Parts: sequence; C-alpha cells; structure tokens
Amino acid sequence: MLTKEELKDIYEKRYTSVSQDHSAREIAQYRKYYKVLLNWDSSSCSDKHYLDLGCGLGAKTVGFNNGFNAVKAVDLSEKAIANCRNKFSEERIEWVAGDAMAVPGKYELITALGFSLFNTPDNQEFISNVGHIIRQNLTERGGVMIVGSFTDLSGSGDSWYMHSQNDLVEIQNRLETEHAVKVEVIFPHRRFSNYFSGGLLNLIAELRKLVLTRRRNFFIKIVHG
Ligand SMILES: C[S@@+](CC[C@H](N)C(=O)[O-])C[C@H]1O[C@@H](n2cnc3c(N)ncnc32)[C@H](O)[C@@H]1O
Repeated sequence: MLTKEELKDIYEKRYTSVSQDHSAREIAQYRKYYKVLLNWDSSSCSDKHYLDLGCGLGAKTVGFNNGFNAVKAVDLSEKAIANCRNKFSEERIEWVAGDAMAVPGKYELITALGFSLFNTPDNQEFISNVGHIIRQNLTERGGVMIVGSFTDLSGSGDSWYMHSQNDLVEIQNRLETEHAVKVEVIFPHRRFSNYFSGGLLNLIAELRKLVLTRRRNFFIKIVHG
C-alpha cells in the first residue's frame, strides 16, 4: 500500500501538467449528479455544512455546492489546492491542503468523488476508511456521505476502479452492519432524472454514452440513521 507521502508525490506530479479546460463540463455534470442524488433545495442547504475529501482540481466540489452554509474542500496536493484557490476564487469554498482523513468537525454532507482518498481495490481497507469518516465527520441522524467512482462491473482487478457487483454488495452490507447507516448504490444511467436534469446537451451526451460506454459512474450513498 502507498504511504501518504508517496500518494502526495504522485498527485503533485500529475497536477503539474494538467489542463483544466474540461472544468466547465465537469461542473455541469456534477450539478446534474447533485440533483440526481440529493436534490436538496438551496434554502435547506443554507444551514448545512459540506466537506469534499480529496477534491483534486475542485470542479466536482463546485458542481456539488448548492449554497451551503460553509464548504471545505481538502486535498493532499498543494498544487491542486493552489489551482482551486486561483481558478475558483469567486466561490465561497475553503480550500485546504492537508490530510482528508484528519479533518475536525461534523458535516451534513460529505463527498469523496473519483474515489479520491478511498482509492483501493481492497474492500476491507475501503470499508474501514469510509467507517473512519462516518464516525469522525458525518452528522448523526440524516447526515449524507457520497462516494463516487466508475466501473464496468467486471471486477477485472487491474485498476482501483473496477469493482464487481459482488464487491458493491459486500461494501453495502458491511457498511450497514458495522455502522448505523443506510446504504444505496446508485448508477445514474439507470435513473430517469440523469437524462432530464441537465438540458439538451446533457441529454445528447447521456444517450451517446448509453450506446458507447462500458464503464459507468456510480455512487455509494450513505445516510446516517
Ligand atoms: C483520483 S483524484 C480525484 C480528485 C477529484 N475528487 C476528482 O474526482 O476530480 C484523488 C485525489 O485524492 C487526493 N488524496 C488522496 N489521499 C488523500 C488524503 N489522505 N488526504 C487528502 N487528499 C487525498 C489526491 O491528492 C487526489 O487529488
């Protein structure tokens, strides 16, 4: 397993050469996923606190920000955080360079998008890392945590991302058994709102993906009981 220093090193190098040209598209896509997954209206968000873990270049954080009372986004990479502060200076988001596993405080919404710091093919490790965040940071009674990734369900094991259907069932059952939470695995492409919550361009892009794409985005939605 990689240490945090090794991970930080990998991502600092990756963010040196990255372009952000696709950020507007990513923001729009995650605004839509926000509607598909939560759809809390902005008035109910104004008293909620949102924490994004492993925010990277921040477009997904911005997409999910629906007028929360406060938003904190944390990443190990100082380059990524400097980039977010510069690129999204108009947003009311606190960008923090540091370890997302050690953030103080409780939040009504927590996301880890692109599997972020939970990147691991090991279900046990994944479940214990997510459990740590549930205990440490998720508001009791109604707090929601969303972990997002993609897979073709092959479980081919050659990537952090290729979970099988059995992996997802194990993750769901064990999180529910070991914590006071309700867990749903959501594939947006199976939901009507995925096609009709983002305008005409979204509809065309989603219909195209339906035909051409094997790997699908999915989200593990964890609701504190
Ligand atoms: C696959 S990237 C995803 C970035 C972003 N969420 C996205 O989807 O565009 C994973 C991110 O998690 C960050 N990360 C990994 N472990 C972390 C940790 N312990 N604390 C904070 N960030 C971490 C990495 O620096 C990297 O930016």
